[in-house]
Amino acid sequence: MGWSFQEFLKDLFFLKGSLVWQIRQSFPKLPPSSVVIYDRILGRKNFFQKWVASYPSHAVRGGESLKSIDAFPQNIRKILKLTQDLEKPILVGVGGGSVGDFVGFCASVLRRGCPLIHIPSTWLSAIDSAHGGKTALNVDAKNQIGTFKKPLKVFLVRELLESQPERRAAEALGELLKMALLDGGGWFEKVRNALPEASSSFLLSRFLREAIQGKYRIIEKDYLEISGGRRVLNLGHTLGHVLEVSHSLPHGVAVYMGLWMSVEWSLQKKFLSQREYKKVRSFFQTRIFQKSFKEVQKRKLSPRKFLFLLGKDKKRVKGQKIDFVFLKGIGRPYRYAVSFLSLLKECQRQGWVKE
Ligand SMILES: NC(=O)c1ccc[n+]([C@@H]2O[C@H](COP(=O)([O-])OP(=O)(O)OC[C@H]3O[C@@H](n4cnc5c(N)ncnc54)[C@H](O)[C@@H]3O)[C@@H](O)[C@H]2O)c1
Ligand SMILES: [Zn+2]
Repeated sequence: MGWSFQEFLKDLFFLKGSLVWQIRQSFPKLPPSSVVIYDRILGRKNFFQKWVASYPSHAVRGGESLKSIDAFPQNIRKILKLTQDLEKPILVGVGGGSVGDFVGFCASVLRRGCPLIHIPSTWLSAIDSAHGGKTALNVDAKNQIGTFKKPLKVFLVRELLESQPERRAAEALGELLKMALLDGGGWFEKVRNALPEASSSFLLSRFLREAIQGKYRIIEKDYLEISGGRRVLNLGHTLGHVLEVSHSLPHGVAVYMGLWMSVEWSLQKKFLSQREYKKVRSFFQTRIFQKSFKEVQKRKLSPRKFLFLLGKDKKRVKGQKIDFVFLKGIGRPYRYAVSFLSLLKECQRQGWVKE
């Protein structure tokens, strides 16, 4: 049977602005002229090998080095070669957030922009980075250049996601909790109730749809990050980014700690009531992170290093201030510019930074 566009669109979730994502059990049949760029780690999985064999493809090594501007010329040359005879190539990125950021960037510059499909292979990319159209490359520091590139489709393939080691799910849990805190509603309670007993992969799998819907609700209002509304997605990321670099933590684990810091500060500033605080607190008593929490608090940062790393934050506003996301309640983020000094003092008070 030939490929039909109608068939392809069946069952897809359409959202405002024609952003489209779909959760499915197994890999989709791709449209003609698709070229697959995938994380080579996936080559070890039989079901993936079988599927990818039907398309022209290029394997890359996933991770931050793929996003390095220095590796870009060599990788884009390979993609140019693969696509040179195609009239209208479609780039399909299969991998974690690094592959998504890299392939997304390529799709926005190849032939001045060609269609892009994401098939995320990590939980973090499935709930977060594959959605929202941001791409990025690293130039000396992380994510220094990038584009907005709306994917044509995002396919979430359960067979692929559920084949990951449990550790990868724990790494993404911080982002899931962030979305539950930002979005609020009934699913916050459900996550909270499930947390004490459930494994990370169960939580990710069970609340995948809710977390993605929550992200789209936010980005739809400010897709190009003009009004600033989209910036609430940065909840937990101010301290999170600092800890990610200083303690070499996985992104989602660092974000989890950043969330806690933000919740505590929101209480201290009286943005958050005691009642709401108590509800949120149970989110942070999960055994999943106890060990890394203790380790990070044992190796406190020096104020100097903390301020240096903070200076690299892209959410800086004029001068020595930073756009910080507090919580006024569950589902009620609140952005407020704080000085570096007040942030330093609060991190010292909470025990993340040495006095
Ligand atoms: N564009 C955005 O909006 C956005 C948002 C959040 C994060 N990001 C970016 O995403 C990246 C982090 O994402 P990530 O954690 O997915 O990173 P990643 O792509 O580096 O993947 C992490 C590791 O998992 C391996 N891996 C991938 N799929 C696997 C699978 N199915 N089974 C086993 N191992 C697998 C990779 O080879 C890699 O070693 C960062 O570069 C970050 O900047 C982008
Ligand atoms: Zn994040």
